[in-house]
Amino acid sequence: MSLLAEATRIAREFDYPAEQVQRGVAEYIRQQNEGLAKENTTLSQIPTFVTAVPNGTEKGLYLAVDLGGTNFRVCSVQLHGDTTFSLTQSKIMIPRELMASGTSKDLFLFLARQIESFLRIHHNEHFEAHLRRRLAGASEQELFDLGFTFSFPVRQFGINSGTLIRWTKGFNIPDAVGHDVCALLQSAIDELELPVRVAALVNDTVGTLMARSYTSPGDTGTFLGAIFGTGTNGAYVEKLDKITKLQHMKDAHYDKSTGEMIINAEWGSFDNHLSVLPSTVYDRDLDAESNNPGIQMFEKRVSGMFLGEILRRALLAIHNDPKLAIFKASATSKVSLPSDSLFYRQWGLDTSLLSQVEADTTKDFVDVKAALKDHLKIENPSDAECEAVKILVHAIGKRAARLSAVPIAAILIDSGKLDTEGVVDIGVDGSLVEFYPNFEAHIREAMREVPQVGVAGDKKIRIGISKDGSGVGAALIALVASKDETLHIP
Ligand code: GLC
Repeated sequence: MSLLAEATRIAREFDYPAEQVQRGVAEYIRQQNEGLAKENTTLSQIPTFVTAVPNGTEKGLYLAVDLGGTNFRVCSVQLHGDTTFSLTQSKIMIPRELMASGTSKDLFLFLARQIESFLRIHHNEHFEAHLRRRLAGASEQELFDLGFTFSFPVRQFGINSGTLIRWTKGFNIPDAVGHDVCALLQSAIDELELPVRVAALVNDTVGTLMARSYTSPGDTGTFLGAIFGTGTNGAYVEKLDKITKLQHMKDAHYDKSTGEMIINAEWGSFDNHLSVLPSTVYDRDLDAESNNPGIQMFEKRVSGMFLGEILRRALLAIHNDPKLAIFKASATSKVSLPSDSLFYRQWGLDTSLLSQVEADTTKDFVDVKAALKDHLKIENPSDAECEAVKILVHAIGKRAARLSAVPIAAILIDSGKLDTEGVVDIGVDGSLVEFYPNFEAHIREAMREVPQVGVAGDKKIRIGISKDGSGVGAALIALVASKDETLHIP
């Protein structure tokens, strides 16, 4: 069999046809309703205690920090109250040893130190004034309200408290699990005596929804926020009546006036038991060798952290086939990889390679060659090798996008939103929607194949990139929280 025939055969294993999309949607609706009714379900359906979306008139200066991917971000956000904002930020890479081996104390002190240096650089006046007041023994402190974007599954007990359920996306600091992450951050902040109050706990998807709603308010506000980046997840506006697992708290003092609450679905763990998700040998091996087998099974097929690894495994299977030549010196290939090449290393392939390869429209594979050189130091690949990479990249990326249609379509259908007047607004963020060519187009195509959405439903849906959700969105939630002390379970 030729290299291209084999690449094409493997690519077919990533087909995700209409009928499977439809089955996925039906099952998602089932798992979603189960998650709204009880705890410890595959879809966590976490109540966020945020009961309204912004309309663009909100004002004030807030701090926001974001922990959830490879970088830690600190920013201050000035909301101007006219749908616009100004944002100052700094970003720092999280040292690997803090992500996966140290203690939670090490991690949170590191975060607090970044907040301190950010304040010193950008808000030194306020910071110094605070120190003076404190030295003078003033009891009244002017504190910054901070929105803490923490993009991992937490069991939320209020707008500013929640315990970590499990780590995802390569983080693994066992002693933090079960602890209130806001309290952990606040005590690190207090240890450094910073003028900061952790006012809100925010998932990045909720931040995305809020930011989108602030910057592009329509008559109805934004309905859903979704991330397709390192991880994948979504948050949407649910009717309180449907969140039956909250019923036993019905006397809680949270604001019920809107009759709605934003739910963080944690859809990365949709169908962990694989009743409807497609599964190739590459998916199965990736999972078995990951640090959390059996968990985040949807995310492992969709998000940026994993697509590069799926591709690497598929290419490696061809590479290891003695009858085929890819990336090893032979009659048809000039490439010879050193044994320490990233190609042989787990997680060695970054997902940005997929975006670069998929973007190539040249006849002689200019971008594919550049991507292989940048990422794997591969020089002079043959046209057939480039073509094989392209075929697999396309298949893996397309399956990811079509899978992404499943939760979106399911949430829209179950909410009845498609039967109402006007557009349904969706805010999205993340490297895949931003950089992988046609990701949204593939999502939309798959959604149209779901009869309850169809062409008419697709036309009602407006999808827009919502940049800075974890900054602006977190600031907006800090604002809500600072104004309303009642947003918690007593
Ligand atoms: C992972 C996290 C989730 C987050 C998503 C996107 O799925 O568990 O909380 O929203 O990644 O960053």
